[in-house]
Amino acid sequence: MTPEQQILDLIQKINYYNDRYYQDSVSEISDFEFDQLLNQLKALESQYPEFRQSDSPTQRVGGTVTKSFNTVYHRYPMLSLDNTYNEQELRNFDDRVRKGLNGEAYEYICELKFDGISLSFTYENGVLVRGVTRGDGTRGDEITNNIKTIRTLPLRVKAAGLPELFEVRGEGFMPISSFQKLNEEMETLGENLYANPRNAASGSFKLQDSAETARRALDCYIYSFITDNEVFKSHEESLLELKSRGFNVSPGWRKVQTIDEVIAYIHAWEEKRMTLPLATDGIVIKVNSFEQQRELGFTAKSPRWAISFKYKAENKPAVLRSVNFQVGRIGTITPVANLCAESERMLPYNQVRGVHLSGTYVKRATLHNANELIRLGIRIGDTVFVEKSGEIIPKITGVDITQRENFLTVPIDFPVNCPECGSPLQRNEGEVAFFCPNDSHCPPQLKGRIEHFIHRKAMNIESLGEGKVETLFDINLVRTPADLYDLKYESLLGLEKNILNEETGKIKKISFREKTVENILNGIALSKTVPFKNVLFALGIRFVGATVAEKLAVYFKSIDALRTASYDQLVAVPEIGGRIAQSIVSYFSVPENQLLVERLQRAGLQMESDEKPVVLESNVLEGKTFVISGVFENFDRDDLKDKIEANGGRILSGVSGKLNYLLAGANMGPAKLEKARKLGVTILAEEEFLAMIRNK
Ligand code: IVH
Repeated sequence: MTPEQQILDLIQKINYYNDRYYQDSVSEISDFEFDQLLNQLKALESQYPEFRQSDSPTQRVGGTVTKSFNTVYHRYPMLSLDNTYNEQELRNFDDRVRKGLNGEAYEYICELKFDGISLSFTYENGVLVRGVTRGDGTRGDEITNNIKTIRTLPLRVKAAGLPELFEVRGEGFMPISSFQKLNEEMETLGENLYANPRNAASGSFKLQDSAETARRALDCYIYSFITDNEVFKSHEESLLELKSRGFNVSPGWRKVQTIDEVIAYIHAWEEKRMTLPLATDGIVIKVNSFEQQRELGFTAKSPRWAISFKYKAENKPAVLRSVNFQVGRIGTITPVANLCAESERMLPYNQVRGVHLSGTYVKRATLHNANELIRLGIRIGDTVFVEKSGEIIPKITGVDITQRENFLTVPIDFPVNCPECGSPLQRNEGEVAFFCPNDSHCPPQLKGRIEHFIHRKAMNIESLGEGKVETLFDINLVRTPADLYDLKYESLLGLEKNILNEETGKIKKISFREKTVENILNGIALSKTVPFKNVLFALGIRFVGATVAEKLAVYFKSIDALRTASYDQLVAVPEIGGRIAQSIVSYFSVPENQLLVERLQRAGLQMESDEKPVVLESNVLEGKTFVISGVFENFDRDDLKDKIEANGGRILSGVSGKLNYLLAGANMGPAKLEKARKLGVTILAEEEFLAMIRNK
């Protein structure tokens, strides 16, 4: 087989297993075998880029980095829907539809209203060519590389019977379970948490690194089909057809004849919607016939043929039993309310189930910070109101003052000392949160530091995840990251611990068997090759996130240069402000931190870097995209890539309609050249390219 045939053959196989998995829920091969096929394909594609296909399944795993997204106009504007909040408003909508259609018979399609972000996908000749966010409805961000990571979105569909150009639209979302996992991870890294799955989805669809988007396992429900010329008669027909062509059509839709049936649908889904993998905040009602949709038309903002109905956020009374003050991984103190249902007032707290709210029992709710306690004015023993914001995160919205019996309630005293280590708490000027300053001895902070250290984006010792670090910490075997490098096979083998998940009440047994211990030790040994910028990030210096760590690594090049740098030298680094500089100086002034760094240095971690900074020479190539192919006289490909980026241009992975320039060297693949010519891409010789950047 020629390499091209091999590529096509692999694509066909992978697509087949993907469809079986995502559409029929059948795994015919193991994950391992699947990854092997994918890796073979990736290797072939990088060896023969001219044969890379725009619908290759390797795009599902991302890998392209987009510096800034192009803004593109929507071919058809993306409108919004009018909202209704009660039955009467719905009946008024129905009256308007009946009048608008002059007494003709009509049907409705009822759908769930998903709480994600609206996306539009364009297909040309059956191939997915573009994905765009809603933006302001007229134009949005082109995020094609990121939407290709949605596994349920077909990269290619059978074109027969469909127009050459069509658009499908749907709601992109992050499943609630992935949202919770992501936020746990963000917490470990000391980064800001997402307030709800919708914000998380929105942020994740707009990440510059599509490999990171891929990891976040986003999904999308499709709910509409748009073309210039009519292919289907009704919304129902289009949904059925989309489904049969492999689209992940929104679940739960139903055709009904009357507004009473619409109302019955609303009631039927009020509770059931909680079983879906994402938040829903209402339902959408659409007139089924496309002809009738046209008759009814649009107002300036929204269609007259559709409307949404919003469920009221469920709000219930609960009793505030007590407040815990949790110490976070970076020392932040968060008050957390322990709640029970009114009927459970007399039960011991470990027998309490909590208040039933939007599908789950709630017995805890964050109170955020001391200011929130003052704002709410709540006392222990009070009856408070609980609601789920975005249907996910429980929130106390107020107190039922009529229920308060002063002698039965007590004020909440915000602690003066850390509940874990007793240190006096502090609060920085201008910040709302109190924190425990004892970062070198306070147990949850020490444990948090180690969890941060082993994280994938830091030292990447995944074999220590899932409760293992916690176990080693609790039995005093590992108290600082440096202790990891002293671990021995014999001291780990046979260790066991039961870890209780307080939320679910489930116990997880952690045991260190031979294989586990080998994996752990291998993971630790391998971490010694992780680059300096990761090591720097892994130290967990306040305000030194992954990006700042990289900048510091590029600038100072070694831990020795960084730890002796003065405040003034630090603020002289581009993008390093006073707050970061101060934090670095304080970190290296603490004897425990100095000792930690010395021990890590002795253990053989990478404490120097040779990374080159990207220095912007000009912006003459801003907004321009390039593909490099073939062999060049004055540069090798990496140099050319650096040159393009240094002048503001972007590198794309393959030739497509949105490419501006193909930089063509000697011996480049004829297929790629041909494709570029067909698509009207400008083909540049090395000299012409050099002239472009010389004219800056
Ligand atoms: S149809 C003309 N169907 O709600 C509007 N939208 O306020 C066509 N949404 O931006 C939209 N679920 O993001 C439609 N089943 C559904 C939906 C849905 C959620 C969102 C969508 C849109 C917003 C409209």
